[in-house]
Amino acid sequence: MTVQDRVVGTPSPRVDGRAKVTGIAAYAYDRPVDDPVYAHPLQATIARGRVAAIDDVAAAGVKGVLAVVTHRDAARLADTEDAELSVLQSDEVAFRGQFIGVVLAETPEIARHAAGLVRVEYDEEPHDTELRADRTDLYAPEQVNGGFATDTDEGDVDAAMEAAAVTVDEIYTTPMEHNNPMEPHSTVAIWNPGGGFPEAPRLTLFDSTQSVHSVRSTLARVFGLRPEQVRVVSPYVGGGFGSKGMAHAHNVLAVLAARAVAGRPVKLALTRHQMFSLAGHRTPTIQRVRLGADEAGRMTAVAHEVVEHTSKIKEFAEQTAVGTRMMYAAPNRRTSHRVAALDVPVPSWMRAPGEAPGFFGLEVAMDELAAACGLDPIELRARNDPRSDPESGRPWSGRHLVRCLREGAARFGWEDRPVVPGTRRRGRELGGMGVASSTYPYYRFPGSRAVVAYGGRGRYTVRIGAADIGTGAWTVLTQIAADALGCPLGAVSVEIGDSGLPSATVAGGSSGTTSWGSTIVAACRSFRRVYGDDPPPGAEAGDDMPENPDAERYSMHSFGAQFAEVRVDADTGEIRVPRMLGVFSVGRVINPRTARSQFIGGMTMGLSMALLERSVLDHRTGHVINHDFAEYLIATNADVMDVDAVWLDEEDVHAGPLGARGIGEIGIVGAAAAIANAVHNATGIRVRDLPITPDLLL
Ligand code: MOS
Repeated sequence: MTVQDRVVGTPSPRVDGRAKVTGIAAYAYDRPVDDPVYAHPLQATIARGRVAAIDDVAAAGVKGVLAVVTHRDAARLADTEDAELSVLQSDEVAFRGQFIGVVLAETPEIARHAAGLVRVEYDEEPHDTELRADRTDLYAPEQVNGGFATDTDEGDVDAAMEAAAVTVDEIYTTPMEHNNPMEPHSTVAIWNPGGGFPEAPRLTLFDSTQSVHSVRSTLARVFGLRPEQVRVVSPYVGGGFGSKGMAHAHNVLAVLAARAVAGRPVKLALTRHQMFSLAGHRTPTIQRVRLGADEAGRMTAVAHEVVEHTSKIKEFAEQTAVGTRMMYAAPNRRTSHRVAALDVPVPSWMRAPGEAPGFFGLEVAMDELAAACGLDPIELRARNDPRSDPESGRPWSGRHLVRCLREGAARFGWEDRPVVPGTRRRGRELGGMGVASSTYPYYRFPGSRAVVAYGGRGRYTVRIGAADIGTGAWTVLTQIAADALGCPLGAVSVEIGDSGLPSATVAGGSSGTTSWGSTIVAACRSFRRVYGDDPPPGAEAGDDMPENPDAERYSMHSFGAQFAEVRVDADTGEIRVPRMLGVFSVGRVINPRTARSQFIGGMTMGLSMALLERSVLDHRTGHVINHDFAEYLIATNADVMDVDAVWLDEEDVHAGPLGARGIGEIGIVGAAAAIANAVHNATGIRVRDLPITPDLLL
């Protein structure tokens, strides 16, 4: 066994695990700072209109209150282009829960108490928060997120549907959902009026973020600073799921507050309630899916037409149907996205944005098509597995979906699935199994750099401003660096989570390992090219992320097969999910321990999506009424039974020097569909609207 074999591909425990479980790891809000001030936001209690009057006399009079900052006295921002970040710049209210001020005090308790004493009067205007497919103001955005085309149209779907022997034409819906990382969004902001150079930045932020460099560049722009005048530090992050992928309004609010008490650090942590209007959410979707096939189940048409919402102040158009474009071999294909701009908080990224809701519609429809064709659902998918990407025509870098399905069928005991739905009954319990396909694109974002430094005595430091939001990225990057330097894991320490480090792209799009990892490989190779095997102490070399020409030549996606078994109580409708299995094809797996954790974490989130998660927007008030863990239900230990994930032993030779594709998001894709399909198999009831609650089965 070579040194390298011991490093990459082994289940190394997390390099930051001990610090996290012993409580030594300082998350943003816990960062010890001198003489902190505590901020508590004021939020609009109307969904649209203007702030007419603010009476803060009582609040300002509370002992320990330092300031109440509102649009009347907040500093003017240099750039107000991004309306989400244009905080306290006018009296306008664009959604319920929007920031209208902030109370600063000596303790968090005083700040919160005083915030409750502020009286606000509004000029209220009518608002509209209801997404419906028959709205007359739906529009086609110029493009959807990720820069994808809004609509695609290949062949003649209508004619193919007309001519098809077997068809499915149904509406599927997914609800508004909220990312709920364990650690709320929090920031410590320090405004140093005398600073402005790298050693003493004008603005320092200890922030909980998926990207220190993107928060730095955004805040620099908003406050009219050069990026070098801003430092963002974020070594430990308690989850994000996309909601910490970019700066949000609370970052700006914290900086405005810090300017009001210049010199003193301001600590701001959103409460769980506040997160429901300020940290992004997944749009609700209404999806019409049409599938046509011949008698043998060969698909002739697939159409996926999506209606979703965005906020009025900022467009965020989820790419819900994009995954459908490359998934199956039908010659006639159509996808579209139509958006309603509503008086709602700004939507944002939530794990597998696009694929997660989109594959609920597509993969339940596939199950319906299999039933209509009298085919096993795995066989239907195998018959429609395209040899090259139907959308781009490019060859696959590695499409092993059918292998995942077959391997999963064998491991899961698929042959025991009842062929006729609703026929497997033991006592009050109905049993069934379901399957769904999964996919997630290979993304690599340009803009990362890594630097390797040799400290003598065999010890290396690798610097890159990456983020570990709980994924294990820190550990995986250490493994990759040790492998590339040809040294043991313990000889390398990787520094991440600081904008003072070389630039790194976001921990998002399942791109971290491939983007940062290939950058580290390049930096280590540069280092070895310059210094060989015997570098002098103090030796240093760096490099940027290398190009990957294959990314243009091949269609590159991870794939997976999701299996679920359910038991449904015929009297109460209660659904239990005793088993889930995911079989994934993701290229090379760098660390089986952290990879498995990503897969089963995603699948658990899919279970949660299938059965529990739904943000209830009260259209009378524009308010998400179930804005806490008591009422916004997320799968907990008692809901999660046997969730397992395995993967094909492979390497994607087109996926850069690591041979690895992304793994962070694919676990959620298709998981809810597999459960819905299992529920149908158990009960004979087809549920097309998430979440699948017991009342729908009675
Ligand atoms: Mo993920 S939703 O791309 O952070």
